[in-house]
Amino acid sequence: MSHLIKIRPDHDDLPSEITPQGVYHGRRELLKNVAQGVAGLGLAQWAQRAAFAQSELTPRPGKLASLSAVPSKVSGAQVMEKITPYEDITSYNNFYEFGTDKSDPARNAHTLKTQPWSIEIEGLVKKPQRINLEDLLKLSTQEERIYRMRCVEGWSMVIPWVGYSLSELIKKVEPLGSAKYVSFISQADPKTMPFVGSAILGWPYQEGLRMDEAMHPLTLLSFGLYGEVLPNQSGAPVRLVVPWKYGFKSAKSIVKIKFTEKQPDTAWNKAAANEYGFYSNVNPNVDHPRWSQATERRLGEGGLLAKRRKTLLFNGYESQVAQLYAGMDLKQNF
Ligand code: MTE
Repeated sequence: MSHLIKIRPDHDDLPSEITPQGVYHGRRELLKNVAQGVAGLGLAQWAQRAAFAQSELTPRPGKLASLSAVPSKVSGAQVMEKITPYEDITSYNNFYEFGTDKSDPARNAHTLKTQPWSIEIEGLVKKPQRINLEDLLKLSTQEERIYRMRCVEGWSMVIPWVGYSLSELIKKVEPLGSAKYVSFISQADPKTMPFVGSAILGWPYQEGLRMDEAMHPLTLLSFGLYGEVLPNQSGAPVRLVVPWKYGFKSAKSIVKIKFTEKQPDTAWNKAAANEYGFYSNVNPNVDHPRWSQATERRLGEGGLLAKRRKTLLFNGYESQVAQLYAGMDLKQNF
């Protein structure tokens, strides 16, 4: 399976930058060994996680090509991007329930209790219900999707997620015609999340999408990355991934999904409405009030001194999502 994605030809990547596949496959091999007890004793939790990853999260290579980060119309030469190393993806995070420093979630999120877990589905649906994690995992085929992710703060990554389109879950609960928006509410348990209650944001963390955005096949309900279950700092056990929007739209550790007629509140919009709009589509032409959004720094590429890349409209997914915003003023609806 190829881990390369093709993007617009305005980057300067060299083939030599591509992550050797052995690194990736080595990780899977390790998982298998751990599951079989080969990697040593005293790893009960790990083994359990690994077994879980093997049984429920086995990615289906080949399914992802049409949905991964490949813009469908690419003219001229095609270049390749490397997948961001696992260590970068899981050590530089935003998860304010565990602290505001990028290294805090990796350090603190071990206290998050991910079992048992369920998502409450409520609001304007024919079938409101509470779905437990095991049933959620079985709801549809898990696919691996390699998505480019762009944080509003100016850094980006390329992440091999595992999950399925959120639309699968939405179809199952049968939204009413009056449902125009979907809101996502994260876990907010002060006992296991030490920074819930801090003044920086209102809690629980909350995000929202318009119904057509939520139904778009790119919008992913994710349970894993790099073929493993999500580590806690990445939003275990289930999170949203919306690759054409700034990272903060991708709510982590979701416990409730609510269907509404009115545009729902979102945590960042409530905290600073002039800085964080409801749409938050990646847009190099609309600056954040305090900084430019024209370029980004790719994690794993030489730190702060690395050459910045140009940020792409809709994070490079323009051909797949631009029609959702036809006729809308993207400066006004930022
Ligand atoms: N979800 C919750 N519950 N709490 C958060 O603080 N941070 C958001 C988003 N989801 C956040 C959250 C922000 S600002 C970003 S950039 C992404 O998660 C970061 O995801 P990552 O750490 O997997 O890269």
